[in-house]
Amino acid sequence: MSLKKAYEQYFKIGTSVSKWNMEWPQATRELQKHYNSITGENGMKPMFVLDMQENVEHPEKYNINPALNFDSIRSFLKFSSENGLGLRGHTLVWHNQTPLWFFKENYSLDEKAPWADKETMLARMEGYIRGVLTFVEKECPGVIYAWDVVNEAMEENEEDGWRKKSPWYQTVGEDFVAYAFRFARKYAGPGVKLFYNDYNTFLPKKREDICNLILKPLLKEGVIDGIGMQGHLILNDSDLKEFEKSVLAFGELGLEVQVTELDIHCNSPEEEAMKQLADTYAKLFGILVDAKKNGKANVTSVTFWGMKDDESWLTGFRKEKSYPLLFGEKYQEKAAYEAVMRVVQ
Ligand code: G3I
Repeated sequence: MSLKKAYEQYFKIGTSVSKWNMEWPQATRELQKHYNSITGENGMKPMFVLDMQENVEHPEKYNINPALNFDSIRSFLKFSSENGLGLRGHTLVWHNQTPLWFFKENYSLDEKAPWADKETMLARMEGYIRGVLTFVEKECPGVIYAWDVVNEAMEENEEDGWRKKSPWYQTVGEDFVAYAFRFARKYAGPGVKLFYNDYNTFLPKKREDICNLILKPLLKEGVIDGIGMQGHLILNDSDLKEFEKSVLAFGELGLEVQVTELDIHCNSPEEEAMKQLADTYAKLFGILVDAKKNGKANVTSVTFWGMKDDESWLTGFRKEKSYPLLFGEKYQEKAAYEAVMRVVQ
């Protein structure tokens, strides 16, 4: 048995992968066995696609249509199509891992240089989205089944919900989200689903902000298909009741729901902690399966953020060793794996 087989009738099972995962035969075997979807953990983000040298050296040529380099994206497309995996595109428009010079007048490397004006930034945004989406469709049509068009535009600590420090917000304003989705709809291939993706989507205020400021207006325009609930949780510190409320609230809007970056931070490998982790995963998958079965939310994929504990980003981010996933260092199945399998067996 495997994860993807066990969950076949409910939703896709995915994992984030690095370029090293794609070069390592054992990782490839695990990917073929357990998953039918992957997401590039980093390699498809703007910092790996924008061609810094070309743009910075020839701003007059690329000012409103940035030069792009598709080598990294190409490797994800090739690996996915060779291994029969669906690919989630992550991500087009984000404040993070997009170089600061991209937002500056004449692509200046000087941090103090003025922002480019709104018109220029919208042209750059359209050029970027057009370039990426037409490339992937031409190179490997149908492999990418969903795109995180905009990532993390909301900030739970801001009263009005908007992440004001984002250079996209600074240069374009609130409507950067709508423009991004309009451009993505214009250039995406047929059947490619467009997602808004964010973290802490289980917090009541953030859930409301996302529904009111992002999802409803985009639904009105017919330019969005789904919501990505990232799912970076903390053991014994994330309210699954609220998580469920969010799944149902997003489902009620008629959007596809995908859990896009699932992990549960846990700083102990001891049996008791691993048992708690297993219970939490089981509850979470129970919520998702029930919502799908009962027609309350169209959950279409669940992606783990990492293949195994020792590769998780969380150890660096939390500054303590984390054991947040279903598989240990040698891809051994943990109690959490058994628990997730039991939900549907
Ligand atoms: O590219 C540089 C490289 O040149 C340098 O040598 C190396 C030295 O540390 O760093 C490299 O950059 C790293 C980058 O990943 C690319 O590999 C950064 O240090 C590192 O901080 C960065 O972390 C990534 C993080 O996004 C950045 O925000 C994580 O691996 C990745 O798991 C994480 O993923 C995000 C999702 O995209 C969006 N949601 C939240 C999630 C977790 O933060």
